[in-house]
Amino acid sequence: MNRRYRKTVIAGNWKMNMTATETKKFAEDMKKIMPRVKWCETLICVPACNISTAIKAFKDLRISVGAENVYFEEKGAYTGEVSADMLKDLGVKYVIVGHSERRQYFCETDTTVNKKVHAVLNAGMNPIICVGESLEQRETGITDEWIALQVKSALYGVPADKLRRCIIAYEPIWAIGTGKVAGPDEVLATHAVVRRLLCERLGETGNRIPILYGGSVKPANAGNLIGLDNVDGLLIGGASLDAQSFVQIIRA
Ligand code: 13P
Repeated sequence: MNRRYRKTVIAGNWKMNMTATETKKFAEDMKKIMPRVKWCETLICVPACNISTAIKAFKDLRISVGAENVYFEEKGAYTGEVSADMLKDLGVKYVIVGHSERRQYFCETDTTVNKKVHAVLNAGMNPIICVGESLEQRETGITDEWIALQVKSALYGVPADKLRRCIIAYEPIWAIGTGKVAGPDEVLATHAVVRRLLCERLGETGNRIPILYGGSVKPANAGNLIGLDNVDGLLIGGASLDAQSFVQIIRA
């Protein structure tokens, strides 16, 4: 299916970077160079404490603000956690769920990822569901099965009307922050696995769900990546922290 029928999404993930002051400075820098973007949805996921600042600062830039995480319970005695309704109330549209760093450092499992996907959808936002294999898994030849399992688990029990609001991000763990971007054949093959799964669940509508690539995306490789079949956008870590390089990627 032609990519015209899918939204192109250029998303930044700031991880645990940028203070509120730095967020405002980034917005000022962006105002000088940001093109009037019609060809894609641009968003940046920021630390929870800076969401309000970012929403205010990015308003005129037409950059949506996303969250990097959420807790799945609606409310209650969960000290330190942030609920989906709290994010929605601030004006958040997108929430990253199941990033490999959260799976690795914060004991996120396929089960909690699935609960978070439900919570985000129930609150009326769009989950950006991250999946990806380790180098060991790729070398063992089980990437396709692993990715399929992660996608299936994340989407378990999600009804078709809500599935349409999901975004999948394929981020090979070995490519994150390493400067080692996945090769075109690897990206094509894995994105095709995800697309097949989505179409099995949704029929033709499965073609409308954006699949993003993430992992060492830079201005120099963004154009080639976005030109690949079934790559409907990019999830960018390090390169989204710099206004110049983020704009170069948007232009690519
Ligand atoms: P890098 O672009 O820094 O490799 O990070 C990718 C990522 O984890 C985005 O979620």
